[in-house]
Amino acid sequence: MKSMLNVALPKGRLGEKVYSMFEKAGFECPSIKENNRKLIFENEEVGVRYFWVKPSDVAIYVERGAADIGVAGKDILLEYSPDVYELLDLNIGKCRMAVAAKKDFRYDMSRTLRVATKFKNIASNHYLSKGMDIDIIHLNGSIEIAPILDLSDVIVDIVETGTTLKENDLEVIEEIVPISARFIANKTSYKFKSEAIDKIVKQMALEG
Ligand code: PRP
Repeated sequence: MKSMLNVALPKGRLGEKVYSMFEKAGFECPSIKENNRKLIFENEEVGVRYFWVKPSDVAIYVERGAADIGVAGKDILLEYSPDVYELLDLNIGKCRMAVAAKKDFRYDMSRTLRVATKFKNIASNHYLSKGMDIDIIHLNGSIEIAPILDLSDVIVDIVETGTTLKENDLEVIEEIVPISARFIANKTSYKFKSEAIDKIVKQMALEG
């Protein structure tokens, strides 16, 4: 029996784009387009099995080998440093990690800066590199509310179009790092399935 390649796809709009890249690379799975509640799809003929997972969980599936390969945002890779190979920048899902604050905000070095974020490590490392001591407030979403309600002084978050900041009277005060979707592979899988994985990476590099 042909060995299956297990692929963790990020659920959502980015995932649809990612799937169509796999499809173009020759790993089609037509049933994936027919059912929107099912989470696992396979095409035995081409030897591929897809799972839809929460985008922030893709790296966990790949690191632990439940998936051989997957696509994860650079934000997640920087935040959690999973032990995986990052094989390709897909040049999609582009955005940036930034510090944002209310328009009249100024750093006050006499007080500990309060930073609200989903990305504790990225935020800590950013301020560590500036030699600043900070108080991290870990939130799970709607980060933009924090400075408005004076829960924090600034936020560290993803900015894509900038609309969320604008609608909430916030602005970017520092850019931390550009973000995009990356093709990742489990280290052991890459040893044993390198031929199939390299074939996809090559094809996708041509598509990008
Ligand atoms: C992300 C991010 C910002 C927004 C940025 O939120 O946390 O809130 O998108 O996009 P924009 O610059 O195009 O407005 P997401 O939709 O992931 O929701 P959450 O952070 O509230 O979970």
